[in-house]
Amino acid sequence: MPKLSDAPFISKRQLDLRLGRLATEISTNAEVDIVVCVLGGAFMFTADLVRRLHRNDLEVGFVRASSYGNSTQSSGKPVCCGLENIRVNGKNVLLVDDILDTGNTLKTLREGLILAGAKSVKTCVLLDKAMHHRSNIAADFVGFHIESKFVVGYGLDFAGHYRSLPEIWTLEEP
Ligand code: IMP
Ligand code: MG
Repeated sequence: MPKLSDAPFISKRQLDLRLGRLATEISTNAEVDIVVCVLGGAFMFTADLVRRLHRNDLEVGFVRASSYGNSTQSSGKPVCCGLENIRVNGKNVLLVDDILDTGNTLKTLREGLILAGAKSVKTCVLLDKAMHHRSNIAADFVGFHIESKFVVGYGLDFAGHYRSLPEIWTLEEP
């Protein structure tokens, strides 16, 4: 298993500060009826974000996507499931994912939500590896813009490891 870098890449405090502002940006600029969380990577981010939206009428739904398997390279073909279990017809959706990398995941899910009858789909990602996008998609709300390195923690995993860490780390080069 690869080792973590010596110090967190994004600390708990940086996450807390940024999430507070992000929640305000979303409340001010987007109409949201339902938040759709992309499991597994976005579970911690979504949990922290929705509680900062202070809404008692907000729905939260879950879909699952995976494109990395046991590697740090995207397969380019995300496998997505669970859209059939959430009702988005006529609703304003906020799609929340952990990372925007190639953009394939967000693009596939956004198209699926629109096909399922969503009234609007806004997207929010914790991390944007902007240099990398190939799918011609930008997120409406971004926590942090980062360079293109593999990161773990705060919900993000490497082959199932490190998901439970409270801050974001990089991995040491082998
Ligand atoms: P995309 O489809 O290439 O945009 O990849 C996005 C998905 O890949 C995200 O939802 C993440 O789950 C995963 N991913 C991308 N980069 C990383 C990383 O650095 N660490 C962990 N997961 C990542
Ligand atoms: Mg993901």
